[in-house]
Formats: sequence, structure tokens, C-alpha cells
Amino acid sequence: MTRVSPLVQRRTALAVAALVVAFAPRPSIGARGPLARGLPEVNEAQQTLKQQWKAVQIKRIKALGGKSAAVLEIKGEQDDRFIVRRPRRGIEHGLRVSIAQHRLAAQLDAVEMIPAAIVAKTAAQLDANTPAGADVMVVAHAGKQYVGGDTAAPAVIAHIPERQRVVAAIIDLLAEQQDRKSANILVERTGKSMMLIDPDKTFGQRHGAKYRSQVFHGGKMGFSSAQARFEDLDPDLQGVVDAIARAPLPELESIYGLQQAEAKVMSDRAKRIRQVGLRAAIDEYVTSLGALHAPE
Ligand SMILES: Nc1ncnc2c1ncn2[C@@H]1O[C@H](COP(=O)(O)OP(=O)(O)OP(=O)(O)O)[C@@H](O)[C@H]1O
Ligand SMILES: [Mg+2]
Repeated sequence: MTRVSPLVQRRTALAVAALVVAFAPRPSIGARGPLARGLPEVNEAQQTLKQQWKAVQIKRIKALGGKSAAVLEIKGEQDDRFIVRRPRRGIEHGLRVSIAQHRLAAQLDAVEMIPAAIVAKTAAQLDANTPAGADVMVVAHAGKQYVGGDTAAPAVIAHIPERQRVVAAIIDLLAEQQDRKSANILVERTGKSMMLIDPDKTFGQRHGAKYRSQVFHGGKMGFSSAQARFEDLDPDLQGVVDAIARAPLPELESIYGLQQAEAKVMSDRAKRIRQVGLRAAIDEYVTSLGALHAPE
């Protein structure tokens, strides 16, 4: 057996470690502690989506919804599905706020709650406004097992775990979501999980009708635990909220890819959760919205 000196062993280990670091999916710069958690999963989900989109052979294109964004459902020959959105405020904005919410979900150990999103070229024309070669925002499709929260049966909604409801409420509060009507929530057929879609009206966007999020207490998918004090949150959720509240704004901008004013929204709401608990922090936010649209 060849003998390898401890020095060579150490050097080899260091070289391997350097390679692993160099090729590991990169979370955004500056993420540490609880804020580094889950970020590789977001990058992985984006890479997977990129590869799948590259390989798609389009079979059918269907226009969906489209009040605030033009939304297309793309079905491929392999029964693969994608969502292509043309966000009202442009791809750059749509992608930025979507990725920020995806990263936040990942840190809260719920990476699947927000679909992955990327910008990619389309090889084929998709509609009159989207010629071949155009950049489009591609979003991972939730899959056939998810139905709109506006049509899901109450018995199914009743199954959504409390932890998911609380995590969704933290996301909607820290992002200052204003469009969380039940149609913008997808519920898995058996109620074991839910997904939050339609991410545009967040981080200070104040145009159009505003809704009280259906994942806030009292909402259709709302949490029912006390959340009267910060300590009522699970310790790992406390850790994330606390880290956001403590982080300097430039760090939040870098971790979430947000602009300064958007990062400040998160920071301020996180501080309030820490001070008064989730429930009261939500009440404060909802009051700040002023006139609200009737719940849907
Ligand atoms: N990631 C997704 N997976 C599966 N279905 C999706 C996804 N994103 C959007 N959809 C479907 O497309 C519909 C419209 O998407 P979205 O809510 O993002 O756009 P919108 O502009 O708000 O449209 P509308 O104003 O009609 O709600 C959703 O209600 C949902 O049925
Ligand atoms: Mg919608």
C-alpha cells in the first residue's frame, strides 16, 4: 500500500474542499447563519428549471388569467408544464420579487412553497407579444395535483398544516403582499401543502386593489395558533426573523437581490414581529394598507 504523508493528505483535502466550494451552487453573497439556510436549494431549483425549459418541445400553449400579468401555461410533449409570465412591471421586477420570496421560503424551511423562477429565451413564438428569441420569465409549474385556493373544498383546506400557514403568513408580512386572495394560493389536492403564486404586488407596490392575505389569522388559509409573542413562533422561524431584523440593509439587499427600499420593508416588518409577535405585527400592517378590497 502506498503511504501518503499527512502533509499531502491535508493538501489533497484542502484542494478537494476548494473545488467543492468553487462548484457548489452559490447562495447570494453575504448570507450567514439562518439566512444562508436553504439558498442552495433555490439555486438548484432554478438550474433544474433552466434545463427543463431548454429541453421543452412545446405541444400546447394556453393563456391563463392575466389581469395583472400575462400568464401562459406551456405544455410539452413529455407532459412537462411551465408557466410563462409577462409581469406588469417588467421581467426584472417580477423576477426580483419572486426570487426574494423563494429565498425567504427556503430559509423558513419551505422552499417548495414558492415556485422557482428564471429568465430564459424562448425558442418558439409563444403569443403575439412574445416572438421566438425573446427573454421570458419562466416559472416552475405547481403540477396537476394543485388546485386554486378559490376552488379547493373547505375540508381540504382544513388539512393544511399549521406550520405552513404560519410560514406563509411570515412570507406575506415580510414581503408586504397585497394580492393574496385565495386564487393566488394553490392547494395540494389532499391539503398537505400549499403554494404561494402571483408574487408581483409586494415590497411596497401599492397599485390597484389591496387584499388582506388569506394566510393571515382569520383568513381562509389563516393560522390559528396564538402568535401573541415572538416566542410563540417555532425557534427556527424565530432565528430567521431575528437574523433579518438584525441584518444591515446592504446585507439584505445582497441576500434577497432586493433594492434598498424593498429590503427596508422586510427589515421593518421583521423588527415588528420580534417586538410585538406575528399577530399584532400583521394587524399593524393590514391597518397601514387603508381601504381593502372585500376578501376573495
Ligand atoms: N406556478 C404555477 N403553477 C400552476 N399554475 C399557476 C402557476 N402560476 C400561475 N398559475 C395559474 O395561472 C393563473 C394566473 O396566474 P397569476 O395569478 O400569476 O396571474 P394574474 O395576473 O393574477 O391573473 P389573474 O389576475 O387572472 O389572477 C393562476 O390563478 C393559476 O391558476
Ligand atoms: Mg392571480
